[in-house]
Amino acid sequence: MSNLPWGNSKILTDEEFFNRTQEISNLTKLLQSTSENNAPDILVTGIRGVGKTVLLNKIKQFMNENYMVAYMDFSTSQTYQKNNMSLKGLFDFYYGKIIEEAHLKGLDTLDVHINKFFKTNNFKLKDMVVASAFDISIPVPIIETERDLEKYRDFVFRLPQEIYEHNKNKIDGMIIIIDEFQVIKELGNYLDSFLWNFRGYVTEQRNVAYILSGSMGLQDNLISEIAGHSGAFGGRMLTININPFSKQTTRNYLKERASELKFTSDGFERFYSCTSGIPYYINTFARQLPVNQELDENKVVDAFDNNISLIGNHLINEWNRLSLKEKDLIIALIDSPLKRVDLARKLNVKSGSLSDKLNKLQNLNLIRFNNGKYEISEMLLKRWLEIEYSQKGIYPYRV
Ligand SMILES: Nc1ncnc2c1ncn2[C@@H]1O[C@H](COP(=O)(O)OP(=O)(O)OP(=O)(O)O)[C@@H](O)[C@H]1O
Ligand SMILES: [Mg+2]
Repeated sequence: MSNLPWGNSKILTDEEFFNRTQEISNLTKLLQSTSENNAPDILVTGIRGVGKTVLLNKIKQFMNENYMVAYMDFSTSQTYQKNNMSLKGLFDFYYGKIIEEAHLKGLDTLDVHINKFFKTNNFKLKDMVVASAFDISIPVPIIETERDLEKYRDFVFRLPQEIYEHNKNKIDGMIIIIDEFQVIKELGNYLDSFLWNFRGYVTEQRNVAYILSGSMGLQDNLISEIAGHSGAFGGRMLTININPFSKQTTRNYLKERASELKFTSDGFERFYSCTSGIPYYINTFARQLPVNQELDENKVVDAFDNNISLIGNHLINEWNRLSLKEKDLIIALIDSPLKRVDLARKLNVKSGSLSDKLNKLQNLNLIRFNNGKYEISEMLLKRWLEIEYSQKGIYPYRV
């Protein structure tokens, strides 16, 4: 199935990338106003695997000629990776990514200005390697007081506009794309102040457009905290939700890119309902199907169940990171959605003790609150658990 991309590809070639013409046209039009001193701030939402990251990388390609476009994925920051999420760590990462991109683009990276800033503030410095392939390392401060952290924040968040001011003759503006933005939830108590501060800088910069994105379901609290009317951006942020492929789009996609798959009409219906039109699942599942033979409903169901741990691999990874109690909670929801009191009763715990776990699982988009009840929001995870249970007689606590 060589024509379909792998489910974990982050950058697709033009031959691999399908559709999304409307989304690309909307986004590029909005971003063009950056060149008229009117840079937009955009939130791109959408469920896991729907294609936000590949779309944003395409946007980068489209806009790259006249703009400096910095794409950064917060989940690749050291501070997150090492399970040690901090404001300082995020600032370092942000600053590093901006400098790296400015460097790649051949812009003036303000080295003199930066050194002067550190010197006047008497910061102790260490070197941070930004892009080893290009041999770029930058000085970052060692922060000792709260006040210094504020100064550093100020410096870091103002940097994009500063770089633009110094390079106006080369670019029409800056576009900063922050993917996996939802990892800032791990800032815990600092989350609110981070968002409000960030908003302050973002909205005052007329030549820097911001796109925030990440796995956020439509009910995610973070979305209202960012883009809701009483959220940090107070309705100033444009929200664009990326939807799964429709049935017709999926049909066209497979016809064009995977014509060796011969679905009967029931078989295709079943394929669509198994994948819910999510490109990640479409590609991963389609690659597992036998070619040049009739695929009826039964064949599709069998292939799905046989390959479910591969298709749902990213969810199983997520599952593995959960605590025993969080796993219990999900398992308790397999049979049917439950009210909180009933859930507590089923687990034999006090209702109040569930708060943290419910929040965390909702943040991960594994469960959601719907009509007064909690339910599993990842059908694939649910199906995988059911299959494991039916095959092994026990739920897979340790995989
Ligand atoms: N427009 C597209 N054309 C073809 N395949 C696509 C398209 N969009 C997404 N895919 C497929 O889905 C996979 C997942 O896409 P992507 O990583 O962009 O999802 P995401 O929305 O960023 O997910 P997450 O929330 O987990 O970060 C891609 O690797 C690719 O295989
Ligand atoms: Mg992504």
